[in-house]
Amino acid sequence: MLAIDILVKEHDSILKVIEITQTILNTTDKSTVKLDHVEQIIDFIKNFADKYHHLKEEDVLFMEMERHGMPRDGGPIGVMLYEHDEGRKYIKQAVEAIGQLKLGNDEAFEQIKENLLNYCTLLTNHIAKENNILYPMAERLLPADVKSAMTENFEETNLTTVDNEYFDKYMKLVDELSAVYLK
Ligand SMILES: [Fe+2]
Ligand SMILES: [Fe+2]
Repeated sequence: MLAIDILVKEHDSILKVIEITQTILNTTDKSTVKLDHVEQIIDFIKNFADKYHHLKEEDVLFMEMERHGMPRDGGPIGVMLYEHDEGRKYIKQAVEAIGQLKLGNDEAFEQIKENLLNYCTLLTNHIAKENNILYPMAERLLPADVKSAMTENFEETNLTTVDNEYFDKYMKLVDELSAVYLK
């Protein structure tokens, strides 16, 4: 599979999890929210969306785009990096709030909800920008040999993050949660 197509396919899984998260949290009755599902989603976001997916963008795709003349600062790459960091902040705050909730602070639920829903909005817009603007730019900018080498570089980057066993685990999780929440 071509490098950019791999990233677009990963976006599809991330968007599914975003939809599941919104379905779970956009409820007026918080007693229906299954915290273990929320924690599984956070695990997916940290390891699949962030480490597995974002690191391929940051360490391979964006680096190549920079090497081929697109500046990091003041352009789309800088915006994408900033949004990756914003997402990490929302997730860190959601994890802290889950800790508080488990200690018996019921009000922390609103913090979990707010941070995760903000993450969902941020990432939905972020993915749309990548799919519609940044990835097509990369397709035009990068020479064919660089694009084909990127597929191999992706595999090397993957080895430092989520191994194959974990990849299967996350794909299974997306299917399981989709079956419960996306009817
Ligand atoms: Fe990204
Ligand atoms: Fe992405």
